[in-house]
Parts: sequence; C-alpha cells; structure tokens
Amino acid sequence: EETSRFQNEPLIDFSLEESRTQMQEALESVADQFGKEYPLLINGRAIDTKATITSRNPSHRSESLGVVSSASADDAIDAIDAARRAFPGWSKTEPQYRSEYLELIAANMRRKRFELAAWMVYECGKPWEEADADVAEAIDFCMYYADQMRKMSEPLHCDVPGEENVYFYRPRGTVAVIAPWNFPLAILTGMTAAALVTGNTVVMKPAEQSSIVAAKLMDLIHESGIPDGVVNFLPGIGEEVGPELVGSPDVEMITFTGSRDVGLSINETASETDIRQKMVKRVIAEMGGKNAIIVDDDADLDEAVLGVIHSAFNYAGQKCSACSRVIVLESIHDTFVKRLVEATKSLKIGPAEEPGTIVGPVIDEDAKQRILEYIEIGKEEATLALACETTDLDEEGYYVGPHIFTDVDSSCQIAVEEIFGPVLAVMKAEDFEEAISIANDTPYALTAGIFSRSPAHLQKAKMELVAGNIYLNRNITGAMVERHPFGGFKMSGIGNKTGGPDYLLQFVVPVNVTENT
Ligand code: SER
Repeated sequence: EETSRFQNEPLIDFSLEESRTQMQEALESVADQFGKEYPLLINGRAIDTKATITSRNPSHRSESLGVVSSASADDAIDAIDAARRAFPGWSKTEPQYRSEYLELIAANMRRKRFELAAWMVYECGKPWEEADADVAEAIDFCMYYADQMRKMSEPLHCDVPGEENVYFYRPRGTVAVIAPWNFPLAILTGMTAAALVTGNTVVMKPAEQSSIVAAKLMDLIHESGIPDGVVNFLPGIGEEVGPELVGSPDVEMITFTGSRDVGLSINETASETDIRQKMVKRVIAEMGGKNAIIVDDDADLDEAVLGVIHSAFNYAGQKCSACSRVIVLESIHDTFVKRLVEATKSLKIGPAEEPGTIVGPVIDEDAKQRILEYIEIGKEEATLALACETTDLDEEGYYVGPHIFTDVDSSCQIAVEEIFGPVLAVMKAEDFEEAISIANDTPYALTAGIFSRSPAHLQKAKMELVAGNIYLNRNITGAMVERHPFGGFKMSGIGNKTGGPDYLLQFVVPVNVTENT
C-alpha cells in the first residue's frame, strides 16, 4: 500500500491534572528504585564488572541514582564477538518478524511511558515535557522503522525475456551504536532500532551520563524476546571502550551521535584498515550545530521572541538543533532584543522534577565549567545583555541560567563554536542579504530558521540557508519522525536523516541477482 500507516505518538498533555498525577507517581516510584545496580548484558548474560559508573542527578548533585557496570576493552571484544555470532541467525529472521519486535518494544514503551520519562528527568535533568517527548520519539522511531522495513523488504524485479532480475537488501553485519546523553532514550533507540530491523546485530554503547536510561531500554529489548546476542549492552567510559568498538576488525558499521570532535575522530579511526579486516567500515556520525534564526524586519515579534527562546533555552540549550545565534535586521534590532531579554527573564529555572521548569540543570560539572568559560569569553568579546542568576541553586546542582550577548561579531568565539548550553549570541544584519550570509557563515549545517512575513524572503531563506532542517516562522528544535526527517551535512555530520525515508538504507547492502532463464 502507498500511504503510510505511521502516526506520531501523541504527547502527554500536562495541563491535565490526571497526567500530572501520573507523572508525580512515576517520579516517586522511580525514586524508590534509586541505588540499584545495572550489569552489562553480553549474549543474554548479565555481567557485573569491578569498575562502575555512579549515575548522578544533575538537578541535585549529591543524589546518586544507581551504579552501572563499566565495560573494559575485553568486555567490548566479548560483546562484539557475541553480536558477530548472533548475526547469521538474526540476519535470516524474516524482516516482518524483525519489524514486529520493534512494535513490541514500542508497545512496552507506551506502557512504561511515565516511568521512562521520570528516569530521564532524574538522570539527564530533562524537564517533564521534554522527557515525555523523548519517549514519544523513541516509540516513533520503532514504529516508523518497522514500517519502512516492510516497504524495503519488497524485492524489485526487472525481468526481460530470457532474464530475471531481482534487487534486494542484505544487512551489513555488526553495528556499534554510540549514543549521546541529551536524547538518552530517543537517539539510542533510533540508532539501535534501525540497525536491528534491517537485520544487523548491535553493540550498544550509551553515554556515561545516561547509562541507566540505556539499561531500561536494554530491559525492554530483552523482554521483547529478541534472541540473545542480537543486542549487547556495553555501558562504559567512551575513551576505554570506544576505540575497541571503532577499531575492531569485526565491526562493519559505526553509528554515532555526539560532538564534532568525537565524530571526526571516529571517522578517522574507522578508516584505518586492520590487516584482519574484510570490509570498509561504514560510519554514520551526527554531530553538532551552530544554528541560526533570522528575525526579519517585518517579523511577528511576539512569535519570533517565543520561537527563539524556545529554541535557545529549553533543556538549557543542550540540543544539537538548538539556536545559538539570532540574526536580527538592524531596524528592529533594539526592539527585539528588549523583548527577548524581558521574556527570557520569565523562564523558570530549577530542578527538572518540578513541574513547570523550562531550564533545568546542565548535564554535569564539566559541561557547566565549559559553558561558564564561554560566558567569560563572551564578556570579553561582546556585550552581556542578560545573565539569569542561579545563585540559590548552585550548591544543589549544575545550573547555568540563560545568557544573552549582543554586539556579537561573526569572528567572536561565541558566534563560531558550539557551546551546548543556554548561551545565545545576537548578531545585527544591515539587510536581509547580509542576514542570510551571516547565518551561513559556519562550517555546520544542521538547523536554521527565519521569522518573516515576506513571501520573497521566506522563499529566499528556503533556497539559500545552508542547513539540513530549515524552519519558517517557528522554533527550530523538536523535529518529529516522518514529518521532519532530521539531520545535517557539512561539519554537522555524515549520514541520511533520522526518521526519514533514506535512513535505513545506510544499514544494508543492495544485491542484484540476475538469472539467465
Ligand atoms: N531531533 C532533535 C531536535 O530536532 C535534536 O536531536 O530537536
């Protein structure tokens, strides 16, 4: 059938008391589970390691959430070996059954929706709505890729008299999934689900900071009945297990989401050919952004202010899609900045578990220090127009309030480097032409946006902004599966858009069989 069956998972409406109660109850029941231990899972076997990672709540730094085993290089080798051995069986499993496993995982996520969101609130400092959207996106990835796989598993025929041709896809082999902490469930699930449904086997390496959320996903995968060894859970320190995974002669593909530095280094390491290696490794690396929103001189400023704030400061700006530069036409610059500053002051900063929090903590002490350094740099090179204080929260967790800089020049470090925090650079453009050129003056190409009422300018933005996801008159974060296939190019990464029609193609090799009849 031509029309897709897929529908985005509806978001929870927290304005309803019933939903708020459910979330409160989930937060309480998850808090009762603090202190547990989470082992590795290799070939279906739980393994407790000597080394461990203690997961902490960034909203309350003294609160430890649990203890996760930390894999060694040898564990990585075992996990790769388990995945490699599981491959022949899994790759021969009918694609429709593989799709059904994903749908089963999605169904279990729906059942545990509030609990999974609650874990993200605690482990990653995600405010309620963002945590809920993360679960919804994880469900969407499972459902969408399950659907896509059904379509992809129809072989293409191209017969002529005396010759039959069939074109179909085979899985690649073992995939190392290396995931970030900022979408701890959605991105990990998306990459893993894509690899699985196409018939590959997986070693799943979550970010250290979100290891428990990842363990919860591993539980769901295990409970779905997917055979042992098909997905192996390898939490650990990136520097210790990463090189083993990326350098292994037995890993066919690496799919990574995270920082540019790590992405480029994975790409480099994966390109070195080991003597035992029998294939050229495939790398998908989704990296950062230095995303801009243009505010045109005829923009609806109420909408522009909200769109910019939402894109720059929700979840403390910790999204690769976040807005870190706003380029404002000179004639409305001062009015816009005034309104932007006023509106930003009203954002609720606080612990993520409190309903209504918009700006929670940043992920850890390192992140906080890095962001504070950029703020100091910004003070040297531009004008600090707003610094939201977090004095009363600083003892408690890793808080950085929204900061807005004006008079930011293209050459400023805060206009060039990805900060990954609630820091926004406001830049002035003399005319629309210049606004586009400032927006494009970056090696990144992930998201971009514009607020304008001029059809000609909207059209020009659509054609000329250099970004994978361009948003007209709305915020630039929160891409939804299928509706907004997500991903960039240039220094924002290599690979096809997630949640889009080309994503799964990266996980397969096409084969054509010609029979002389
Ligand atoms: N997909 C997310 C967004 O669009 C970023 O990873 O905000």
